[in-house]
Amino acid sequence: MIEIKNLSKTFNSKSSEVKALKNINLQINKGEIFGIIGLSGAGKSTLIRTINRLEEPTEGSIIIEGKDITKLDKTDLRNTRKEIGMIFQHFNLLSSRTVFQNIAFPLEINGYDKNYIEKRVNELLKVVELTDKKNAYPSQLSGGQKQRVAIARALADNPKILLCDEATSALDPKTTKAILNLLKKIQKEFNLTVVLITHQMEVIKEVCNRVAIIEAGKIIELNTVEEIFARPKTNTAKAFISHIHRSSEGEIIYPTTPGSTVIKLGYLGDSSKKPIISSLIRNFDIDINILSGDIDELQSTSVGNLLIQVMGNNEEKEKAFEWIKEQNIDLEVIWNG
Ligand SMILES: Nc1ncnc2c1ncn2[C@@H]1O[C@H](COP(=O)(O)OP(=O)(O)OP(=O)(O)O)[C@@H](O)[C@H]1O
Ligand SMILES: [Mg+2]
Repeated sequence: MIEIKNLSKTFNSKSSEVKALKNINLQINKGEIFGIIGLSGAGKSTLIRTINRLEEPTEGSIIIEGKDITKLDKTDLRNTRKEIGMIFQHFNLLSSRTVFQNIAFPLEINGYDKNYIEKRVNELLKVVELTDKKNAYPSQLSGGQKQRVAIARALADNPKILLCDEATSALDPKTTKAILNLLKKIQKEFNLTVVLITHQMEVIKEVCNRVAIIEAGKIIELNTVEEIFARPKTNTAKAFISHIHRSSEGEIIYPTTPGSTVIKLGYLGDSSKKPIISSLIRNFDIDINILSGDIDELQSTSVGNLLIQVMGNNEEKEKAFEWIKEQNIDLEVIWNG
């Protein structure tokens, strides 16, 4: 388990002071894929880099498996770092070394003998499906292949934790999916704890168990991925997940046609598969206009968020709304004209 307590980080320079992290408290469970999402400059990289002390915290502690890593001396820190692998947006491979030599690099540094390194690297090449590229140089690889090399290198010394800083941000959607699937696979196979940073909710949706939203150096919302999608609380969370059109201030945008009612429907699980809209039109004397929204397929369930304009007489509308609620669908009246 990774426990982050009262963590703050301030960058000081002659002319300015940037409070990049402000009193972060977070517990990441063993064996989970924990996502951290936020806009550019929110503090994501600073936060993940404090976990292996690439960045020194200004205040607070980071406790990994009961050990406060902010208190470790150089030797202990070096040993602890062996248990933490990291991958980056731009892969950070050594261009003068082959795929094999890149993956071997941390093992050489950590003093393993040649035979072991040979065996271990060949194993890892199989895990990331790059055996046929073992003698290629990074410049001869695609982005996805480069990230596979970086993943193999991060796994070389059998870490317990894998930190991913925007690991798929430089990749196209299809390659992103393949890399995320690889991360899921290795998480299971090696029982890793994965901390994953991204600015894309698609990535969170695909692989994470829980997610924290970071804004201006603070965690403003933290929950399971299902809960965040079904019932986002902050405007930032809503903006990240929802396909409902909003203004830059986070206000929902809708038409105010006299006599119409605008409702927001939110549903989790099975109900998103039911043909709700067509049932409504068939069973009640109302007209419906879908304004915005979508259904998100999560790993374990699906979540729908729809904004709808309903026209008809009040009695019929009320009956329809009652029926909606009976279907276990969250209904919020946004506007009544
Ligand atoms: N070494 C540094 N010196 C001074 N300020 C820094 C340093 N590193 C980061 N910052 C500042 O700290 C804040 C958080 O930066 P950070 O890189 O953690 O954001 P981020 O969420 O990773 O953004 P992005 O999505 O663009 O990568 C920013 O205001 C940034 O300018
Ligand atoms: Mg960053």
